[in-house]
Amino acid sequence: MPANYADRIRLPYLRQRITSAADAAKWIHDGMTIGMSGFTRAGDAKAVPMALAERARSENLHITLITGASLGGDVDKALAESGATTRRFPFQSDPSLRAKINSGEIMYADQHLSETVEQLRSRQMAPVDIAIIEAAAITETGGIIPTTSVGNSASFAIFAKHVIIEINLSQPLELEGLHDIFIPKMRPQREPMPLTAPQDRIGVAAIEIPPEKIVAIVITNTPDSPSNVQAPDHETAAIAKHLINFFENEVKQGRLEESLLPLQAGIGTIANAVMAGFIDSPFHNMTMYSEVLQDSTFDLFDAGKLDFASGSSITLSQQKSAQVFADFSRYKDKLVLRTQEVSNHPEIIRRLGVIALNTALEADIYGNVNSTHVLGTHMMNGIGGSGDFSRNAYLSIFATKSLAKGGRVSSIVPMVSHVDHNEHDVDIIVTEIGLADLRGLAPRERAKAIINKCVAEPYKQMLLDYVAAANLRGGQTPHVLECAFSWHSRYLDTDSMLLPEKI
Ligand code: COA
Repeated sequence: MPANYADRIRLPYLRQRITSAADAAKWIHDGMTIGMSGFTRAGDAKAVPMALAERARSENLHITLITGASLGGDVDKALAESGATTRRFPFQSDPSLRAKINSGEIMYADQHLSETVEQLRSRQMAPVDIAIIEAAAITETGGIIPTTSVGNSASFAIFAKHVIIEINLSQPLELEGLHDIFIPKMRPQREPMPLTAPQDRIGVAAIEIPPEKIVAIVITNTPDSPSNVQAPDHETAAIAKHLINFFENEVKQGRLEESLLPLQAGIGTIANAVMAGFIDSPFHNMTMYSEVLQDSTFDLFDAGKLDFASGSSITLSQQKSAQVFADFSRYKDKLVLRTQEVSNHPEIIRRLGVIALNTALEADIYGNVNSTHVLGTHMMNGIGGSGDFSRNAYLSIFATKSLAKGGRVSSIVPMVSHVDHNEHDVDIIVTEIGLADLRGLAPRERAKAIINKCVAEPYKQMLLDYVAAANLRGGQTPHVLECAFSWHSRYLDTDSMLLPEKI
């Protein structure tokens, strides 16, 4: 007898909608806008997008693809290489998609992650035709229980004309109850979001839509792609140490308590390693109000350092995922997953006094930060939630290794080649060399602090020489404009930012 998945699809008539990924993908037509679940490789639709890519290899089928954030399982790769994706919002991290974005074949709008559904809701973007959402279950009333991410899924399902659900049997039913779905009212009836602590629940546990909008259900069994963060190394450990010393001093000065304030940590190896550094710190009863919960969140729970974590997705390495989901009840009441417009909402970040820790590709001597554009032109991933958090944080910290590309690139440059976070939004810059506390400093003081604390030789002397020449020209924020990007041009010409005599 074929399985009827009664525990996963609890509204009986919807079981008749179970179909193959290929048949579900037939709902998608050329020119449509598709809203798909998925946030930093977690909770993404896995089968229908692959069937769509297959069709696009032989058919004229072009879509606008909107997600929560980046996808796993090579979904973005397949959709980009097949020619299906022609427009992409609001974040990505796939090498094939990145190549097509940088060649100009795919139009990519790199958005603050809190803003995408606001723009959809107010019809400032083209409406979503079809939502494809991964779910752990569908409730008795047709409510969708998301899996390891919420992202923009709730609004996609609410806005779309039709909804395709992927029930993923590899995602545990225990995920039910983890999510908090809150949808703000339309303006001008909008009210404050009633969230005053990371553990507050302000919504409901399922995405509530009229069940008749669910036109197809596909059963899958593929786990989320594991995160690809690297293990901490001696440089990320040094960055963590500088930050722990900084926080210890903040506590000593009476500006923070030993529980600190809710922490946000950006994506990637550096942020994960820095968070792991809190395990050997004197801080306790900490909380997170973040976007992506990585391995370090669970390491901090296990170390008894962290009391609660709020996020929009859980993205883990293979090993950590096996450990966490084998014993999920141990963590469940310490976690909540929210829609990304709530996890990243400026109002809440400011109210809670979040300590934001994000990563820079490069920063300049005045504290402007580039997180997205390699050499000012080529997209890496996107701004993600880093702008949502850094502008509104109690403390906005940016971390980077002082050198990249084997020392041929300095992460601190005279002028950043692209600005994601301007100097007004950046309180602390930290590298493995040291930490520059920029609070209350004027640009000339900021330059001194950043160069003296964060830069490795021989770039340190090169920057001191640059500032000396700039100061002779005067100004609130002195520059030698004709040389401001010479480091980037030299890298393009010689494969190194170093002056020839220093190589
Ligand atoms: N110029 C050129 N390339 C640089 C560079 C620079 N100044 N600094 C770093 N890179 C390259 C590295 O060499 C590496 O390249 P590789 O993949 O070819 O080896 C790559 O950028 C990643 O650098 P890495 O040092 O490993 O950092 P990371 O994995 O921690 O990622 C960001 C850093 C900035 C790319 C990443 O954090 C990001 O996309 N941030 C923006 C979004 C964001 O902050 N989201 C979180 C909000 S909650």
